[in-house]
Amino acid sequence: MFCAGNVYSLLKRAGTFLKSKGLSEPESDAEVLLSFVLQTKRSKLPLMRSQKLTDIQVSQYEEYILRRSKREPAAYITGLAGFMDFEFKVNKSVLIPRPETEILVETALKFAKKENKNSVLDLCTGSGCIAVSLAKLGKFKDIMASDISGSALEVAKENAQINRVLNINFVKSDVFGEISGRNFDIIVSNPPYVSHEEYDALEPELKYEPEIALTAEDIGLFFYKRIAGEAGRYLKDNGFILIELNAYKAGEIKQIFSTGDYENIEIIKDYAGLPRILKAENRC
Ligand SMILES: C[S@@+](CC[C@H](N)C(=O)[O-])C[C@H]1O[C@@H](n2cnc3c(N)ncnc32)[C@H](O)[C@@H]1O
Repeated sequence: MFCAGNVYSLLKRAGTFLKSKGLSEPESDAEVLLSFVLQTKRSKLPLMRSQKLTDIQVSQYEEYILRRSKREPAAYITGLAGFMDFEFKVNKSVLIPRPETEILVETALKFAKKENKNSVLDLCTGSGCIAVSLAKLGKFKDIMASDISGSALEVAKENAQINRVLNINFVKSDVFGEISGRNFDIIVSNPPYVSHEEYDALEPELKYEPEIALTAEDIGLFFYKRIAGEAGRYLKDNGFILIELNAYKAGEIKQIFSTGDYENIEIIKDYAGLPRILKAENRC
């Protein structure tokens, strides 16, 4: 596909090729994948415009660009995703961390600091991006992270090691199934919330991600109902839950949490102005 060339000419050819395949950010993809091949920061590429690639590097780049043209997410090709300024390993067992989930972490850190909270449970931890970021940036003494997927938990444990976090207790659990006898100051969760209808209409990139991480029965509300029904038992008296929202169902989800087990329910918006996080305090 590409013949030998320098950084500038390869970026140009890759960008044009990805554009012809209908990708929305072809130049960005071309740069991310080339910086991965060259094991350098993307910001350094402009300084390397005339550097020639070896034949091995060119064929590696070709392979990555072909995979991306088939809509495989760049994060699965590089095996890496950035979140809260940390680097996380990702593979097809885990959802790629999303920028909007950073608001969940920032909100948890803000309230934990203000109210001196010590313990946190990250339900549906996936890559561990939330739990590991909380461990790095907060002062929690007790952090538990759970997921039903054993292969996701393996990735989460590796991410704790990569980021030099030693104090997370990882548990394989179907929602609260194996969390018995514990209660926490804060429960955070980004559960699966895409309905099967919404899933069918998603971009091809999302079909590479584990369906178990995305879809939920009951028009996407299954986990909100299950978590709202049980979380109160796992929260301390002054504890609260922060849960990421399907922005298009915020009203229904608020209704689900307005059952009597919770009080002071508030919705926090993301940077696009969409309702993104629900905070609900345990009613003691
Ligand atoms: C939307 S992903 C969130 C991953 C990660 N916390 C993040 O924000 O990037 C949802 C996670 O829920 C897990 N999950 C699905 N069903 C579950 C269940 N019944 N109990 C616990 N975890 C479940 C999936 O394996 C997946 O890792």
